[in-house]
Amino acid sequence: MTDLADLRVARLGEPRFDSPLAGFVADRRSNEHYVDEDDRVIFHDTVSQLRDLAAPVDELPSFEPGGPRRRLFFAPGSTKVGIVTCGGLCPGLNDVIRGLVMELAKHYGVAGAVGYRHGFAGLIRGSGHQPMRLTPETVHDINQHGGTVLGSSRGAQDPDLVIDRLVDDRIDILFVIGGDGSMRGAAGLARRIQQRGLTISVIGIPKTIDNDIPFIGQSFGFVTSFSVAARSINAAMIEARAAVGGVGLVKLMGRHSGFIACYAALANHEADFVLIPEVPFRLGGPAGFLSALHQRVKDAGHAVVVVAEGAGQDVLEATRESGATGATDASGNQALGDIGAHLRSAITQHFRKQGSALSLKYIDPGYAIRSVRADPHDSVYCVRLAQAAVHAGMAGRTDMVVGRRHNRFVHVPISLVVSQGNRVAPDGDLWLSVLESTAQPVSMA
Ligand code: F6P
Repeated sequence: MTDLADLRVARLGEPRFDSPLAGFVADRRSNEHYVDEDDRVIFHDTVSQLRDLAAPVDELPSFEPGGPRRRLFFAPGSTKVGIVTCGGLCPGLNDVIRGLVMELAKHYGVAGAVGYRHGFAGLIRGSGHQPMRLTPETVHDINQHGGTVLGSSRGAQDPDLVIDRLVDDRIDILFVIGGDGSMRGAAGLARRIQQRGLTISVIGIPKTIDNDIPFIGQSFGFVTSFSVAARSINAAMIEARAAVGGVGLVKLMGRHSGFIACYAALANHEADFVLIPEVPFRLGGPAGFLSALHQRVKDAGHAVVVVAEGAGQDVLEATRESGATGATDASGNQALGDIGAHLRSAITQHFRKQGSALSLKYIDPGYAIRSVRADPHDSVYCVRLAQAAVHAGMAGRTDMVVGRRHNRFVHVPISLVVSQGNRVAPDGDLWLSVLESTAQPVSMA
């Protein structure tokens, strides 16, 4: 159960300086487009939830709004920031880096921005990764490319060594752009900074194509990723429709969360089956996936199957063909068995046994999805997240990530976003939409 009792965000101290943006926000008050800095964004959004809480309005769980503050903790002219990108690639990383640098330089006039290379590893002295000076000129057109100009890597580092480096480099604010593992690293840094009595702010910007970070609305890069993935589903459908006994099988990323698979499948209504980690299924038996697929091909002449990489891991274990070794990567993620390859051979065998024609085309667009540049929707989101992150850092907030709640930018304590994962709810309306769109059996378990 999520603890919503305290959604307050940590502060380094009282604000001490007038913001250069103070005039810009001076007379603003909460309205349908804007939340005043002294206001709060209510966590819940249904009458029944609020009724169940039965609490006075001021005691309802709520987030601090994002946006510029009238007073700052850091003096803009002497503030120095660090930026680091961690974990797997994601469309929009360069947009966020650019957005941070532009906001810091052009609106706050900060003293300097340093980009650390290849994740937290680049903050360790002796790693051999030289930091980059980031200026409006050096980041000017980086958003036109996928990937990250800073490079990335997985894995945490000794917080004291990272903090020593920040102190040596006189960094006041560290922006950590990363997924759940990186946010855990960022939280550890913020905690240790506080224990050491330092005033360095740590602000997270949540990144992942899997959209598996909770309480932030949506992670940047997700929309671009599922849009690109939808093209593979379209290719699979075209191939399948042209063949006798055509089956298009598309494997998409999504270790624990099937959001990319669901959204990509919904994007053009061409998938007949969507298999995700959150919804178990059986391969064999009259109610299992293989029978349902066989029937669909018999009825319609072809079928398209979309599978998220984390789906059916129990099926793989049961057949002892998982390839899952129990090994973990540097982020602590368990290596997965290859469900795509397993389905390909299981489908082939099943159709052969039934004496049915099969022309199976297998597509795994994997890294081609997450390495593209952000689409305009994500680019807008990235720049706005970056601006919100800068406002928060300059105001002295720390140990938090920027996110969206009810379409408002908010400050979310890191402890909350790492407390659980964002998952497709099998009894939620997204999965219902998928079932409606595919007409696959409600249960194949
Ligand atoms: O965490 C995001 C993600 O895209 C997962 O869906 C996928 O399993 C993983 O990254 C693969 O990343 P890498 O091969 O770089 O470890």
